[in-house]
Amino acid sequence: MEPLGQYPDPTHVVAHLSDPHLLADSLQYGAIDTAAHLERALTRLGRLPTPPQALIFTGDLADKAEPAAYAKLREIVEPVAAQIGAEVVWVMGNHDDRRAYAQGLFGVDTEAPQDRVHDVAGLRIVALDTSVPHWHHGELSDDQLDWLRDVLAEPAPHGTLLALHHPPIPVPMLRLAELIELHDQPRLAEVLAGTDVRGILGGHFHFTSWSTFAGVPVSVASATCYTSELAPDQRLLSAVDAHQSFTMLHLYDDRVVHSVVPATDGPEVSGYGLEMLEPFLALTPQQRFEMVSHRNSPLNRPD
Ligand SMILES: [Fe+2]
Ligand SMILES: [Fe+2]
Repeated sequence: MEPLGQYPDPTHVVAHLSDPHLLADSLQYGAIDTAAHLERALTRLGRLPTPPQALIFTGDLADKAEPAAYAKLREIVEPVAAQIGAEVVWVMGNHDDRRAYAQGLFGVDTEAPQDRVHDVAGLRIVALDTSVPHWHHGELSDDQLDWLRDVLAEPAPHGTLLALHHPPIPVPMLRLAELIELHDQPRLAEVLAGTDVRGILGGHFHFTSWSTFAGVPVSVASATCYTSELAPDQRLLSAVDAHQSFTMLHLYDDRVVHSVVPATDGPEVSGYGLEMLEPFLALTPQQRFEMVSHRNSPLNRPD
């Protein structure tokens, strides 16, 4: 559709999902079918009016790092990505295992940090592995920071998104998560200073959050499996099978727009069918404006 307002179409559209926590053949906490929950999110993603050019999964891909869970992840995600023509960007999380992840997703036998660079129509997406084997907090080695510095030395045509699991921001809504945050964050800030990184994407929290880091916008996508209960009722820590979502990014030359998309359907209370589109597009720009903006238009006062 032609732009109807003041802004051009975005240059890039990216979907940011996180923490699917897939399991080979068991339910998470005996209750959550994580594969079905991921499929539910992807079904809704497939219905978006503008399909994303990339699907970024910021870690905790497999709850127990079972090889069969990574295979199942590919079986679920890759057909959807192929159908909409999107590149898949995987990122390591603290529940993942480097060897199983590298083998299952890339066919590589290694325990090295899983850092990769993707080019999506001139938008550079860097997947940075903040995981620490056998621990839940995050770290980046000197070698990884040197690698990142080299990658970012040359700007990309449309800038860079940095995707990592442990978001480098405070976590005031879930204080216990402070113990599993990314360590030594100023070292990362120093590497990002003056580069073309225009967005940092993280997961790990299982709720949506935003902030900045070293002047760069940070967006944390919630989980597709369970979410952290941010208003717990007399509970120290509470995970709930509700409120799952993912985040859409629309990139413009001078900014990024983030929109949270719930991963579950809701009951419609008002709306119009697709049959309305063709007659609407046949109207003049002024008629369209009046149709949508005037309070007494047939659209706004159908009866
Ligand atoms: Fe997680
Ligand atoms: Fe995590």
